Amino acid sequence: MSTETASGSPGPLRVLVLGASLRTDSLNARLASLVARLVRDEAGAEADHAHMREFPMPLYDGDAEAAEGLPPGALALRDRLAACDALIISSPEYNASVPGVLKNAVDWVSRVRPQPFKDKHALLVSASPSMIGGNRGLWALRVPLEHLGTRVYPDMFSLARAHEGFTAGGDLADRALHERLVEAVTSFLRLAEADTRYVCLRRRWYEFLGDCTDAPVTLRAQD
Ligand code: FNR
Repeated sequence: MSTETASGSPGPLRVLVLGASLRTDSLNARLASLVARLVRDEAGAEADHAHMREFPMPLYDGDAEAAEGLPPGALALRDRLAACDALIISSPEYNASVPGVLKNAVDWVSRVRPQPFKDKHALLVSASPSMIGGNRGLWALRVPLEHLGTRVYPDMFSLARAHEGFTAGGDLADRALHERLVEAVTSFLRLAEADTRYVCLRRRWYEFLGDCTDAPVTLRAQD
């Protein structure tokens, strides 16, 4: 693996933690910041903490792609994905679904070959002032990610009433919830490490159709 050190032992797992809201005071940015800290302190992994603002990109347009290729923001996100072993997304819920900004970014990045989401392990978390915590948005986000071959962790974490959910130090105010988040992050990273580091567990769960563009079935699927 590219993370192998000079001594031959694999280095720490590299985890991209993406806060998927553009808002300056984003609750999901706060949750992503906490998760990145847990990745480092509780799991001993490397966290690459990213904010959606780092990846500006226009709305997906097939004509623009044909004329100019992918925008720099999408390529930057592709690079950050390529450099990680696992991905954690903290996303808001808009109208019970995935925010357009995040779906647009997934659409642009999915145009790269080899397709960067394929076989990546992902954990989904959300924060919202509502009582539902943005959880329906995460179920909607699973669909495009699983379609792209991402191994989305079965457990998810949603923080309800998130506007009053953090301590001044950035932990979760509710101790039991905080421990649940620690458990979700560490369990997820144990699975990601096992599957990325130990060859015996490697397997193909899903063949992304877009990888075989000459197959008739693929052409039908892309129409
Ligand atoms: C929302 N919000 C929201 N919240 C929720 O729990 N369920 C929902 O369906 C929606 N829908 C929704 C639609 C739109 C267009 C907006 C702008 C907002 C509220 C949302 O959770 C709240 O604004 C969060 O603070 C957004 O996340 P960030 O930006 O704080 O990370």
